[in-house]
Order: sequence, then structure tokens, then C-alpha cells
Amino acid sequence: MTSLTAKPSACPIDHGALAGLKTPTGCPVSRKAAEFDPFEDAYQQDPPEYVRWSREQEPVFYSPKLRYWVVTRYDDIKAIFRDNLTFSPSIALEKITPTGEEANQVLASYNYAMNRTLVNEDEPAHMARRRVLMAPFTPEALKEHEPMVREAARAYVDRFIDDGRADLVDQMLWEVPLTIALHFLGVPEEDMDTLRQYSIAHTVNTWGRPKPEEQVAVAHAVGNFWQLAGKILEKMRRDPSGPGWMKYGIRKQAEHPDVVTDSYLHSMMMAGIVAAHETTANATANALKLLLQHPSAWREICDDPSLIPNAVEECLRHNGSVAAWRRLATKDVKVGGIDIPAGAKLLIVMSSANHDERHFEDPDLFDIRRDNSSDHLTFGYGAHQCMGKNLARMELQIFLEELTKRLPHMRLCEQKFTYVPNTSFRGPEHLWVEWDPAQNPERRDPRLLDTVHPVRIGEPSRHAISRTMIVESATRLPGDVLRLRLKSPDGRPVPRWTPGAHIDIECGDSGLSRQYSLCGDPDDARTLEIAVLRDPDSRGGSRWLHENLKAGDKVKVRGPRNHFRFDEGAQKVILIAGGIGITPIGAMARRARQLGIDYELHYSGRSRACMAYLDELRQLHGERLQVHASDEGGRCDFAALLGRPQAGVQIYACGPVRMLEALEQCCAGWPEDALRVEHFHSTRGTLDPSKEQPFEVELKDSGITLQVPADQTLLAALRGANIDVQSDCGEGLCGSCEVRVLSGQVDHRDVVLTRAERDANSKMMACCSRAACGKLVLEL
Ligand code: FES
Repeated sequence: MTSLTAKPSACPIDHGALAGLKTPTGCPVSRKAAEFDPFEDAYQQDPPEYVRWSREQEPVFYSPKLRYWVVTRYDDIKAIFRDNLTFSPSIALEKITPTGEEANQVLASYNYAMNRTLVNEDEPAHMARRRVLMAPFTPEALKEHEPMVREAARAYVDRFIDDGRADLVDQMLWEVPLTIALHFLGVPEEDMDTLRQYSIAHTVNTWGRPKPEEQVAVAHAVGNFWQLAGKILEKMRRDPSGPGWMKYGIRKQAEHPDVVTDSYLHSMMMAGIVAAHETTANATANALKLLLQHPSAWREICDDPSLIPNAVEECLRHNGSVAAWRRLATKDVKVGGIDIPAGAKLLIVMSSANHDERHFEDPDLFDIRRDNSSDHLTFGYGAHQCMGKNLARMELQIFLEELTKRLPHMRLCEQKFTYVPNTSFRGPEHLWVEWDPAQNPERRDPRLLDTVHPVRIGEPSRHAISRTMIVESATRLPGDVLRLRLKSPDGRPVPRWTPGAHIDIECGDSGLSRQYSLCGDPDDARTLEIAVLRDPDSRGGSRWLHENLKAGDKVKVRGPRNHFRFDEGAQKVILIAGGIGITPIGAMARRARQLGIDYELHYSGRSRACMAYLDELRQLHGERLQVHASDEGGRCDFAALLGRPQAGVQIYACGPVRMLEALEQCCAGWPEDALRVEHFHSTRGTLDPSKEQPFEVELKDSGITLQVPADQTLLAALRGANIDVQSDCGEGLCGSCEVRVLSGQVDHRDVVLTRAERDANSKMMACCSRAACGKLVLEL
């Protein structure tokens, strides 16, 4: 038996006394589990809320009404996605409500023969097909569709922008993704209306519970859909040149006839239309509903479109369009400590996983700056993760950008939201909005339409997210230093940070942005603190901050991010600060003290009178602090301090360039990374193809093996394979592209990881580091 979680094998749930009902393994069924019915309006309205009791008390339960085992927690669901041999996807498209004989006969009369598709086939066939058919979904290939997506979105907004009222689903969000899906697949547009009806029928047929009297009508629609898909495919076969995924598939069939079969293409044609259309249409409607229900978030993305990519991820997390998915247990297995027998069917409720407080802090809060929103499971995970995820992300971003730009004054009308009852696909059937057309911004300034914000294809970088903060206090410190304490406007905790981290602060509308190390106490959840030296050679940044900021002002901040990380496993550290360099070094000293690490702190300045934070440091560090004031003849003698390399000692330094250069000379005889200084640029990871070796990477969770050629980074190879990995600096500075290493030796070229972390060989930066030899296995 396979075990997903190390829990006792006895059924851990107190099921209470519910007469009679038993699971297939003989356990009694709890009352809540017995009542579970995903076709009820309460599930349709809010799936994560509907199964909150399960997440909290009974994360894996048997539903007698559905005859499925239902799984609701993040880790359990991710583990199920990770293991597609134990948990077969073969039932993902099976009808959840078996149809009657009459409906089956109707389907047969259309020669309906829906076969396996990428969504529901097992290995080894699945990965072979996925590999052959993946290229058009990669970010590189998707870029060419951006103008088409934007044009389609604009054309639909043009139709209703002067009306003052619209049902966004009927008038835009249903048809535009269908148009885009058809373009992407290479299908002609002339059958759009018919396809729309057929596509709904397909959803009801597969994931819904049509009443017996509806089943026959649904079967006719599905049969027609099947036949139309076949006809369109035949048309394409006559000329398979040109753009479109289906045509690409037809061309690939010539090269791999055993992998891409006729029946496969026919099934993919139908499934592809639904997958590319309906999920995105629903996701966009859900996202707009959510944003308009949170006017401050809507206002923020109207004011700052750079927030849109992350807002999209948060919408997909909070209220995604794929609420649940299905798997079949191929052997006896434990999920969340519960015995699941071979042959059992599982409903895995990703919308619940996305609200699991074990993974997402304050999960019910809608927070467009949440830094792990893109961990959501709405696209699934691993080998079967949605291939079209980046097309969907692109559409969502463009729709939001067009609507926030052209209708920022839009608001929701009073209405009751309704959903097509089914377990899996979820979005409101109508979304009524209203606005005052006289206030349309483009009436005042038609040039507005010329502005286009860059689309971020792929996972957004958490470091690109800016936030507005309030200056709580602005205090003058010795040495012409301005201490700024910043707090959240709504009193919420500030982002967490670690010693060595910095924030980027925007200097009003000056276009300048500057980086400042965080100082103060990382445990202070209420404020972030920076100290800004007025630099006489300033290009304007420090001067602007000194002259303009006062308590109560608003500033825009990005980060925190940490390029200068403190190794908490160090035995001893020597901390050296020159002038304002005390800001990150002071935070490190505080942490060393807290952790009981042996440390000494050297602080140099022109005179004690101009050294910021001196009293606080003296109080906190006592004898460990050594002050070197030049006017007292007390310059720090680096040669004496560092003349002899000391095993296990690390040196952290921040200060003027001359000081750092002198330190580097003195540390020449020390082990390579004993001296750590803050980096704002790095060339260590710069690729020189003439000197690189190609290597192989196995992605354990995705079931893919990639070759990384000498002229490509690992990050580029992962992107090319449509694998989500965040990135920011691309130089090995910021740590955002970190991936977990399961085996293989890494040639680390970043400046982020500490020596202990490198030695552990359990993570690497994908943007710059490579395999030291041969092959790496990654947890991706
Ligand atoms: Fe910054 Fe890789 S993207 S370290």
C-alpha cells in the first residue's frame, strides 16, 4: 500500500453516529459527508465555503450521494496530482452522472466515440503525446497571439462601452475566449454560435446532473458537437498548413502516426474547444466579479496595471473556474491517513485546497499582493497540469487591462448569481455591470487607447508587486540620516523580511526608484524601517526622500527581497559596517544575538557624532560592538582583524566601495565565500556557451526529462517546457527562481545561497546554476 501522509492507519475521524451508512471500507459515514452534494446551490455559490467543515475536520471523506471519495486539503491534493500512476486521470472526463439508455442510444446514433485526450489518459501514452503537442503552448509561441487577443477584447468592449450597462458574460466574456480558442486551435469562426451551445451541453453531459428528461436533448447537442468537430477536422486536413494547434497536431501526425492518431485528434478537437474556451470564460467572469466585489482592489489595478498579473493569480486562487477534478485509485492507498481502496473514485476539490490555511495565510482574504497566490492548484499540478495555463493567463491579463483602462468606473449591478450545476467548471451565468458613459475616460483622452501594458506570459514574479505604504514616522538621525518607518495603510501586518533584505522605494512621480536595506527588528510585524543617508552626490533619490517625506505620506514600495542573506547555520560571524552600511549589518547582529551565534560587530564612521543607531547598538550588543571613529584615530585594522583565515567563520560587510575593496584584499587567503557583501549586480552566472556543458534535467513531478544545451539556462529550458518558475533578476541575485533538487550535483553560480545551503545541495537558482556533471533531478 502507498502512503501519502504518515498518519496512523486507523480511521482518525470521529464520524459520529449516523445509522446505517458505511464507506466501501466499512467505516461509518459522518452526517456532513452523507449530506455532501456538489450539485446543491451552496456548492455552486462557494465551493471552498461549502467544504470548510471537511478542510477543518474530515479532509478525506466518502460521499454516498456521489459515490466518490472527496479530498479537500492542499497537501493531499498536490500529492495526488504528483502521483499519476497511483491516481489515474482516466476518469477525469467520465460522466459524473451516468446517463440512461435512451441518451446513450442518441449518442451512439451520432457515432459519438470520445476517446482519451491529454486530460484523461495514463502513462506512457500521455507524456509521449504531451511532448509532441506542447510547443504551441510555450510562452515563446504564445507571444504571437497577444495582438489577436487584444484586438478581440477591444472589439467587444467597443460594442457596449457607450451603453452604461452590460452583461459581461453574454456580451463579452463568453464569446471572446471562444473566438480566441478557435483562433488558437485554427478553427474557422463561422460556427461560433452553434459551438457555444454544444460546449455548454458537453459540460452538463460530463460534469453535471441532467434530469432524465434533459438527458436526451443534451445527448443530441453532444452528438452534434462531435460530428461538427469531425467535419472541421476534415476541412483542416485538406490544408494543414498555417497556424493553429489542431493543424500543428495534424502535421505532427505525419511524423508520429502512432502517437497522434485520428481518433485522438477528433477527441482533442472537441475537448480542446471546451478546455480553451469555457475554463477561461468562467475564470474571467469569476475574476471580474471578485474584483468588483472588492472595490479597493479594483481601484488599485486601475491605478497600477503592473499589479494585474498577480491579481490574476489571486483571482485564480480565490475563485478559480475549475473547482474540482477527478482521479481513480489504481491500488490501495492512504490519503490524509484514510484508507482508499483500489478502484475508488476521488473528487479532489482544488477550490478548497486554494483556501487551505495550512498553505495560504488568511486564505479567505482576497489579497492581490499575496506572494504565493500562484501556488494555487486551479491549473492542477505535475504531469497533467493544464497545458493552456499561459494562454489563459494572457487572456485574463489583457481583459483586465482593457476593462480597467476603459471602464474604471464600472460597478456591479444588484443581482443574484447563478451557475450551471456541475462539480468542476464554475462561473456565473451572467455578470451585470453598470457605469456612467459620460465618465468614460477615453471620451476625455482618446490617446488612452494607445497605451498598452506588457503582458507577462508565465508565472508572475512576486517581486514585481508594488504596494502603497504610509510613512508612520520620519526622524532625523545623526550623520544626515533620515529614519523612515513605514506601515500598511489598512493596519495589516507588513511583509515579513530577513536580515540583509531591502525594499525598492519609488520617489514620488520623479521616476526614480531606490533600494534601501531594511533595519530594525524583523519580528516587528507592524512597520518596516529604512535609514536613508543624504548623499551629496545623489542623483536625486536620497535628496527626494529627505526633502519630501513626512509622517502620513504615501509611498510605493516593492519587496522585501534579499540578495544578502545571513547564514543562520554559521558558527561565528564577523560583522563589519561602514557608515550607513550599518543598516543590514545591524539587523544581522540582532539575529546573531537572537540565535546565540558567536559574533563581533565592527562599526566604522568619521566620528561618533555622525554614526546612526550608535546608542541602540551599544545597548543591544554591549562588548561585542567595537566602534571605530576616524576622528579618534580608531580606524578598523582589517589586516589585523582578518590576517589569519579562521575555519567556520563568516564575514558580512556593507559600506563604502573602498572599504569593501580593502576587505576583499585582506580576505584573499580565506575560503572562497567566507566574505559576503551585498551585491546589486553579478556576472557569476553569465552564460558563456563556449565554456558550458549541456546537461539533463529530470522533472520528477511533471514526468518530463529535458536537455539543457550549452547555450541555454535551466530557467529558459523550463520555460520552454511550460513549467512555472518565478524569476526576477535573472542573474542569481534575488532567489526568486529557486527550485528544489532531489539528486545530482549542482554547479552553484548565484550569490544568494549560503555555503551551508550549497553544501546541502537541495536547492538551486534556475536562472544561472547548472549541473556540475551529467544530470539533475528536480522537484518540479
Ligand atoms: Fe533572481 Fe534567479 S531570477 S536568482
